[in-house]
Amino acid sequence: MSLWGGRFQDGSSAMFRRVNDSFPFDRVLASQDIRGSIVWSRAICKAGVLSKDEQQQLESALNALLVKADAGELDFDASTEEDIHSFVEATLIEQLGDVARKLHTGRSRNDQVATDFRLWCREHVDLLTQDLELVIRSLLNTAKANQEVILPGYTHLQRAQPVRYPHWCLAYVEMFKRDLSRLRDLKARLNQCPLGSGALAGTVYPIDRQEIAEQLGFASPCLNSLDAVSDRDYVLETLFAASTSMMHLSRMAEDLIFFNTGEAGFITLGDQVTSGSSLMPQKKNPDALELIRGKCGRVFGSLQAMLVTMKGLPLAYNKDMQEDKEGLFDAMTQWHICLCIASEVVDTIKLDAQRCAKAAREGYANATELADYLVGKGIPFRTAHDISGQVVLGALAQKKAIEELSLDELKKYSDLIEDDVYGILQLEYLVNKRCILGGTGAEPVAKALDAALAQFAVKA
Ligand code: ARG
Repeated sequence: MSLWGGRFQDGSSAMFRRVNDSFPFDRVLASQDIRGSIVWSRAICKAGVLSKDEQQQLESALNALLVKADAGELDFDASTEEDIHSFVEATLIEQLGDVARKLHTGRSRNDQVATDFRLWCREHVDLLTQDLELVIRSLLNTAKANQEVILPGYTHLQRAQPVRYPHWCLAYVEMFKRDLSRLRDLKARLNQCPLGSGALAGTVYPIDRQEIAEQLGFASPCLNSLDAVSDRDYVLETLFAASTSMMHLSRMAEDLIFFNTGEAGFITLGDQVTSGSSLMPQKKNPDALELIRGKCGRVFGSLQAMLVTMKGLPLAYNKDMQEDKEGLFDAMTQWHICLCIASEVVDTIKLDAQRCAKAAREGYANATELADYLVGKGIPFRTAHDISGQVVLGALAQKKAIEELSLDELKKYSDLIEDDVYGILQLEYLVNKRCILGGTGAEPVAKALDAALAQFAVKA
């Protein structure tokens, strides 16, 4: 039986049920719904709606349901209920009869679903926080194990200046740290309790909303009942956090896919996280990384879908808002999977330090250094840039590196160039010269790595 049948003479059509029912997907809110109901039963008992005995009957039946829900043992398939809220209520009524018919006093599914969903989001924000830390730890481990490796840094996917491998790792650590802080920030905003807001206007029963909020672990109650039942900002914010983090993961995946190509050959990935070709026996494809990149589409799509769903909705609750769930459930699942597999992939990275260094040496990545050398001899940078560019052009014509040109050849471009130029053109030298805060020199990178290792408690 539906929760609202009294005013209706005809039953719902099968197609209406298909469009209207959320039970096929909101059943994952069972645990949150039951916990909310336990606290609600206490609140209406205090308000005089339930006797102590009635409340205890309800609480023990709800506790038994909670145990089953948490063990994944609720028999959803035998039910034809519309949503998880009616499922829990109907189950209780079946067990307890009239006492259970009192539970919904002063409550609406509107404040109920808003509460359940906030609880779900809060719990998943905590889970995703752990997943992000997992990836960060993997990056820190590979950084620590390969501190001396130097590889080309790119702009426009053209070799630009060499960087330390840990510097590359730490760039992504910074991004994931911001993802963590986004979760922290949004959790503070979502951590308000809608329960007690009723359908839209509050409830007539003298319930203690502060106490309800505390019992459900919220920082405070929502302050406006209209807003409480119709706000889905926390869904949008969570989807944005997921999307941004997926974008970070995808960029990391793209870098690694490139590092793993036969052409670059900087890294190899473990068999555990790659797959072969049914036709070409030699293939070992970075599928996990490609799927991280690919799954961004659906996560970004969910954010866009939710923005469009919410736009133009009048206050307060509208059924459109039921569309908030599937996108978020899916986005959080995909984000979780991608973070976990990203961590596994990073754990399998094997670097070819020689190939990295060779690539870093090629491509005239030391041309900036030559310009800076000339600046040191008193030449204005713009002129020095031009001279160094001409040296590159001349070296290209001879298919040589800058440092392979003789001093006589170099002096044709500027007679200020002396023998000491060969020292500054060396890979190690030019990397370590960037010892500014945030730079790729040995010292700042070691410091940054140590700080991150301490922050994320990675064992040495
Ligand atoms: N299944 C609904 C949802 O997810 C629950 C709230 C229903 N409220 C209502 N007034 N029909 O949004």
